[in-house]
Amino acid sequence: MSVSVLANPLQYLPATNGAVLSNGILEPTVKDYFANPFSHDRLISDRYRVEIFHEAIFQTVKPGDVVLDIGAGTGILSLMAASAGASRVFAFEENMNILEIALFNAKKKGLLNKIEFIPGNSKAIHSDLLLERPDVILSETIGSFAFNEGILSNLSSGKKILGYDGVLIPRSITLIISVVQIGNVLLKAVKNTHCSVVNLKSRLFSAEDLIYLSKPKSILSVDLQNNNLTTMSEEVSMLVERKGHINGILFWFDASLSSNCTITNHPLSHEECWQQSLMILPNHFEVDKDDDVFIKLEVHDDSLSVNHRINIGCKDHICTIENTQIL
Ligand SMILES: C[S@@+](CC[C@H](N)C(=O)[O-])C[C@H]1O[C@@H](n2cnc3c(N)ncnc32)[C@H](O)[C@@H]1O
Repeated sequence: MSVSVLANPLQYLPATNGAVLSNGILEPTVKDYFANPFSHDRLISDRYRVEIFHEAIFQTVKPGDVVLDIGAGTGILSLMAASAGASRVFAFEENMNILEIALFNAKKKGLLNKIEFIPGNSKAIHSDLLLERPDVILSETIGSFAFNEGILSNLSSGKKILGYDGVLIPRSITLIISVVQIGNVLLKAVKNTHCSVVNLKSRLFSAEDLIYLSKPKSILSVDLQNNNLTTMSEEVSMLVERKGHINGILFWFDASLSSNCTITNHPLSHEECWQQSLMILPNHFEVDKDDDVFIKLEVHDDSLSVNHRINIGCKDHICTIENTQIL
């Protein structure tokens, strides 16, 4: 008896912005991820994130302020802004299922009269829709790799609405990097996710699974408040502190939300919903103590997608990682 092999049904579908892997599996995009209510459950269950945004919002929003919330999700930050005294909150959310949850939450809290939920992507919405000038724009579209959820284009398009000159939450973001030697257990685990995020606090991994070969260094530090950059590039050099082989680059971020509220997904920080971004190099290279490694990172947020390109090199080795899937 012959067994027929089923054709991969995905090949008959039109191309999507999801990443199709060589085995035919369609990887979810950031957009798919946030269409799932359980992803939002992780966000609102993260006490560290919720408390720090609450503090920053109560510190920033003054009674009578008009607030834009770009990427409202379940409405949690809009509710905070309304409770802090905002006279009006315009809350944009592109995912309709999640927007329904937000509407339900606002109704339950008796704040529907203050919050106007606007379905759709904020970047496609005409400024005439908002009749009031915003005093505060907030957007928790910070990804594990800081920029991969579109915060640059979200905030810069938000600022164009009615010629914005108010306050942003977050006001700045810095990406931090370290070159690392990844052990076999972690290497396999990361390769199996087809995606570069990993929870380094997981008890599955031990200290040998991730050896830091350099001190962490900032790269792409953006003052969101004072510029509208959506394309950025920076090259840094890192001093190797111990002999080893570099087969990965670890990324996390520090974001300043208000004058004394900062949030980070540093590998040793609180147990939070963000993980760390760990990019695996296509070919590893040996390094000695005191070698200089250069890393050039380019990020381009073109409103529809966020693309990145990383060049890393040492002595005569150089390799490139481009548009790795990050959730
Ligand atoms: C990380 S979640 C944050 C949700 C909520 N603000 C919170 O703090 O829990 C980001 C949300 O923003 C939405 N989103 C991202 N960019 C958007 C845009 N430009 N316009 C409308 N919604 C957007 C996504 O669908 C997702 O629900």
